[in-house]
Amino acid sequence: MDSTTRHLAALHRRGLLRGATALAALAVTQGCTRAEATQGGLFSLGVASGDPLPDGLVLWTRLATAPLEFGGGIAERAIPVGWELAEDAGFRRVVQTGATEARAEAGHSVHVEVTGLQPGRPYWYRFTAQGQRSATGRSRTTPAAGSAQPVRFVNAGCQMYEHGHFTAWRHIAAEELDFVFHYGDYIYEYAEVPTGQRRWGREVRRHVGGECVTLAEYRRRYAQYHADPDLQAAHAAHPFIASFDDHEVQNNWAGEHSATLGFDPAFLLRRAAALQAWYENMPVRRALLPRGPAMVMHRRFGFGGVLDLHVLDTRQHRDPQPCNDGFRAPCEAVARPGAQMLGAAQEQWLLDGAARSRAAWQVLGQQVMMLQRRRGTTLNMDAWDGAPAARARLLAGLAARRANAVVLTGDVHSAWAGELRLNPDDPASPVVATEFVGTSITSGGDGSEGGAESILAQNPHVRFYNNRRGYTLHLATAGRMQAVFRAVDVVSTPGAPLRDRASFVVEAGRAALLAG
Ligand SMILES: [Fe+2]
Repeated sequence: MDSTTRHLAALHRRGLLRGATALAALAVTQGCTRAEATQGGLFSLGVASGDPLPDGLVLWTRLATAPLEFGGGIAERAIPVGWELAEDAGFRRVVQTGATEARAEAGHSVHVEVTGLQPGRPYWYRFTAQGQRSATGRSRTTPAAGSAQPVRFVNAGCQMYEHGHFTAWRHIAAEELDFVFHYGDYIYEYAEVPTGQRRWGREVRRHVGGECVTLAEYRRRYAQYHADPDLQAAHAAHPFIASFDDHEVQNNWAGEHSATLGFDPAFLLRRAAALQAWYENMPVRRALLPRGPAMVMHRRFGFGGVLDLHVLDTRQHRDPQPCNDGFRAPCEAVARPGAQMLGAAQEQWLLDGAARSRAAWQVLGQQVMMLQRRRGTTLNMDAWDGAPAARARLLAGLAARRANAVVLTGDVHSAWAGELRLNPDDPASPVVATEFVGTSITSGGDGSEGGAESILAQNPHVRFYNNRRGYTLHLATAGRMQAVFRAVDVVSTPGAPLRDRASFVVEAGRAALLAG
């Protein structure tokens, strides 16, 4: 092997070239030195982009030379970082450059908000610091207002590191997409499983460190996840629109209520640390900067005349789970009339936005299942089943606005498609929206076949269930929205191929799942 070939082979081994393979290879063959193109050193956590607008993007990186150490191996001082944005993968047409700093206060993360871009087109970006150059990332602005350009995106999340390899992210990197919606559970806060022991019996790799409760621990956990080459490939290939669910803070937290402590000042301080770490590690705008334990995470993205994505927050403003959480036979509190999953302000913001929107589709990017899910006599108190009055208000509001509403969800580590009726207990009640539940990238381990028959028999509004790991690919035009469920056979070993498990279509003007 000559040195370039050897270098490419090394990058392949380290997983740095898949996804945007051709782009990175181009950069290498066009004469970057080894030091420039290698992603080790300061840029070991990769690059990312996100929160796209018709004329803007967020570019992200975070410096670390030792991701698994507290502090990431970086001294507690500011490090100058340069960035470049180009119209081509080879950076022959650089359109913007800038200088910023990776500051210790921000965990040495960098968030650049680029403006003045052209709508609906790809851009390439990279960073430099201390003579080192990052990998190249590709991003994409959203289509111009009113554009009929089709929109392709992925719904994915739930990536418990210990449960498997991020093979699904590698496949997502190879998709042609406008964006990735991440429904949350980007990290899991759990302690490493001690060597020789198993917690769920599915651990194929290990967290480093104890349960995350302080900023330093959350930062290190994000660094461990960001160091994964498959996840890096997905970030380098597409802009992300990130939300969070529970594990970015603590399993099944709800508002100011900790699942273990209840109402306790220590939990609010933990929530502040967790949300700061989330902010530092996601390609999001400074509008999301947390103020103490609070962050305005819900926000809206327009994709021409095709769809508006309303990113929802079902954690910060919700009621605590009724009936002691878990799968429970509904106790009296389930039927409380003022139940909240979004909080009144966010709920009104969503319905107002859907009413004002001129886009064909109202896509609700959120975390926990909205479809009723009967398991024997029980329902999941952490999901919308624990707040049916909130679900009824939301669905009635969307129906009154004649919204073509599609709900995207995660959390349950299995793939589902179903129809949302105004009253889920009445089969004659009208269907007003459809829901597609992405499975998980790894959480739950390899999973299994089967199980659908009993779920569908108990839940006639559910049309599809599958317990493999993967994601949902969505293709939207003004007239139709398709959902393709894609899954890998295993996550316990790397490199599993991808298979389509089902495909559904919804036509604008008729909330119903069609085979497609
Ligand atoms: Fe999860």
